Amino acid sequence: MKAKDLLTLKDLSKEEILEIIDLSEQLKYETKHGIEHHYLKGKTLGMIFRKHSTRTRVSFEVGMYQLGGFALFLNSSDIQMSRGEAIEDTGRVLARYLDGIMIRTFDQREVEELAAASRIPIINGLTDEEHPCQVLADLLTIKENKRKFKGLKVAFVGDGHNMANTLMIGCLKVDMDFSIATPKGYETKEKIIEAARLVEKDSLGTLTITNSPEEAVKDADVVITDVWTSMGQETEKNLRKEIFKSYQVNKQLMSFAKIDAMVLHCLPAHKDEEITTEIFEEHQEEIFEESENRLHVQKAVLVKLMGKNN
Ligand code: CP
Ligand code: NVA
Repeated sequence: MKAKDLLTLKDLSKEEILEIIDLSEQLKYETKHGIEHHYLKGKTLGMIFRKHSTRTRVSFEVGMYQLGGFALFLNSSDIQMSRGEAIEDTGRVLARYLDGIMIRTFDQREVEELAAASRIPIINGLTDEEHPCQVLADLLTIKENKRKFKGLKVAFVGDGHNMANTLMIGCLKVDMDFSIATPKGYETKEKIIEAARLVEKDSLGTLTITNSPEEAVKDADVVITDVWTSMGQETEKNLRKEIFKSYQVNKQLMSFAKIDAMVLHCLPAHKDEEITTEIFEEHQEEIFEESENRLHVQKAVLVKLMGKNN
């Protein structure tokens, strides 16, 4: 990987994404077969969380251990950041103890400021704008199931927020068609669409933006959704339940997709809101493989970024 950090999927080339997926497959094999892979022996990762997490926290922590390193959980409310210590000072200090930092926060600019202030690799573990580690896991899961990217259509139904934004970029980068349906007023921000249109120019895939879930899902090979109320939007929860109710991934909507379509969800899911229990359980194998794949792709990212001087 050319960049020091993983802040956004926009910064990765198609080749770099494919290399991460290849390395993830190798690491998954080594993990499953008990083959030691201490590629980050003695290295340390700090994990700053301003939001809740189950998967991201556990998979990064276990991943560092399996790579022969060590991870520290740094709840933002326990460190001086919550008392106003500047992010650039936090970054300059932590870079003297650690070999890398994963951060989950609200504002993408905070991740960028941390990266600019630190000499060590910074990994975006979710912001309001992007969730790159999750989308790399989604791509690995699609590749494992469909054995290819080119020629596939991915449909996202729901909020034009972090998951939708990152999927749009990630799917187009690897030459898949990407189609998104959001309610009016909940579309992806203009600057993300502009970035995605630039990616589309070099892609064999196309981008379709609509307010119709049926149009988005028509003939899709992969259908993806996410919660209607993301972390930080809790005060809008009831309003969003009303606005998004015709954007549920259910049996009727799935009848527009290909018969062998996969369903993915980054989790946590609110069953019988964005996805029915029936569809969730029908596709639970893919959805939980997707969760497991967080571990493998993040280990690949950690090795690519922190193993550089090995
Ligand atoms: N998908 C995901 O990032 O899960 P967590 O919020 O549990 O980390
Ligand atoms: N869009 C969700 C994803 C959670 C992993 C959120 O930001 O809360």
